[in-house]
Amino acid sequence: MALYAAAAAVLAGVESRQGSLKGLVYASSFQNVKQLYALVCETQRYSAVLDAVITSAGLLRAEKKLRPHLAKVLVYELLLGRGFKGRGGRWKALLDRHQARLKAELARLKVHRGVSRNEDLLEVGSKPGPASQVPRFVRVNTLKTCSEDAIDYFKRQGFSYQGRASSLEDLGALKGKCFLLDSLLPELLVFPAQTDLHEHPLYQAGHLILQDKASCLPAMLLAPPPGSHVIDACAAPGNKTSHLAALLKNQGKIFAFDLDAKRLASMATLLTRAGVSCCELAEQDFLAVSPSDERYRQVQYILLDPSCSGSGMLTRQLEEPGAGVPSKERLRALAAFQQRVLSHALTFPALQRLVYSTCSLCQEENEDVVQAALQQSSGAFRLAPALPSWPHRGISTFPDAGHCLRASPETTLTGGFFIAVFERVEVPSLQVACGPVTSCGTPPLPLLQSDCFNGPSCVGISA
Ligand SMILES: C[S@@+](CC[C@H](N)C(=O)[O-])C[C@H]1O[C@@H](n2cnc3c(N)ncnc32)[C@H](O)[C@@H]1O
Repeated sequence: MALYAAAAAVLAGVESRQGSLKGLVYASSFQNVKQLYALVCETQRYSAVLDAVITSAGLLRAEKKLRPHLAKVLVYELLLGRGFKGRGGRWKALLDRHQARLKAELARLKVHRGVSRNEDLLEVGSKPGPASQVPRFVRVNTLKTCSEDAIDYFKRQGFSYQGRASSLEDLGALKGKCFLLDSLLPELLVFPAQTDLHEHPLYQAGHLILQDKASCLPAMLLAPPPGSHVIDACAAPGNKTSHLAALLKNQGKIFAFDLDAKRLASMATLLTRAGVSCCELAEQDFLAVSPSDERYRQVQYILLDPSCSGSGMLTRQLEEPGAGVPSKERLRALAAFQQRVLSHALTFPALQRLVYSTCSLCQEENEDVVQAALQQSSGAFRLAPALPSWPHRGISTFPDAGHCLRASPETTLTGGFFIAVFERVEVPSLQVACGPVTSCGTPPLPLLQSDCFNGPSCVGISA
């Protein structure tokens, strides 16, 4: 493996807590261990500087095929390291095209921070961590209002509306009383980091839900149409349940389960405030919910967001970098639970689509759990490519792992998150009809490259 690709792989492994830097360097197939170790160490040391330069130069937007970790390594080498010295191949040619802009952005950063040497950019206090740069995302609760009305309200309060974002850089550049509409979710408003809206009347009235963008993706990707039956298996405190209810327009049914009575109580308050009327809450172990129970006969959609280490949570990352790293035993126990609960969910007879999500960065709770569940389902389910244009993908530990998506402050300006979308492969129905894909029992997702497994015009109709 070439030096830069190896360094990017190690960097990705370190950031997703797959192992120590040293361990991953030794585990890589790159022979010059010393050289690889030094390059990753230095890239990591300048991580915040590199993020700032890459973002303001718009590099990832211009070069869609360039993955964030590789970009970081290459930009380090170009601007702060020893230069490519004959290495780099096609990536060097690509970076050469952006060289002037990248250099200008580094120079601008130095002027902005009032320093002259690259080293000085590392001073403590001069580099706020990426978690503190994540914007404040606000989901408009469409059960109570609409984006236009919420935008008008903020404008009347003196906020300046900047329109719909066209890139990640737009979100990162927000300042003062400016706000945007997110480029992906039409009901998501974006404010500068640290904007506090907990006392805002629209929030208090349930018109707004303070919810990170990554945490809005599971319900969006599950996309249950109005009228359908949905299970939210581990539901409290209920942000995703209220999002599901908004997508259902309160038509259909959500069966929401959680074990924790206290969390369920605050969930009941949240749902009432949000105007949710299609949800049945139950204080129950989801593992004890029988898939053959008549009540769940029509459940085609399951959202599974089980307990996890929370290693991607912004609050933990803000406390202290690395504070969320769980012990090996805790990880093993969590992963075993997640695997059981996911495999259980996949046994519901009418299930067509399931979204599995965690706010963990650990491969053990994410790709490993998904791979084990796929194997256990013996081909009944496959992964659908979730938001193919999303820049941060699952770690390639098995062939379809890239269909999963990951999120992090560094790569997507959100909290750390992982999502996998399962779709049934076999149609569990008595009838098979031919017609346009849009008449599928489970509607295809517009944002999910969902090809119909029976061919472009054959669709199954579930019983
Ligand atoms: C990550 S939180 C869910 C957050 C929620 N989806 C949201 O968006 O607000 C995980 C939840 O799973 C619940 N839980 C853990 N084990 C469970 C089980 N066996 N059955 C049902 N709920 C469970 C926990 O009490 C916790 O509230």
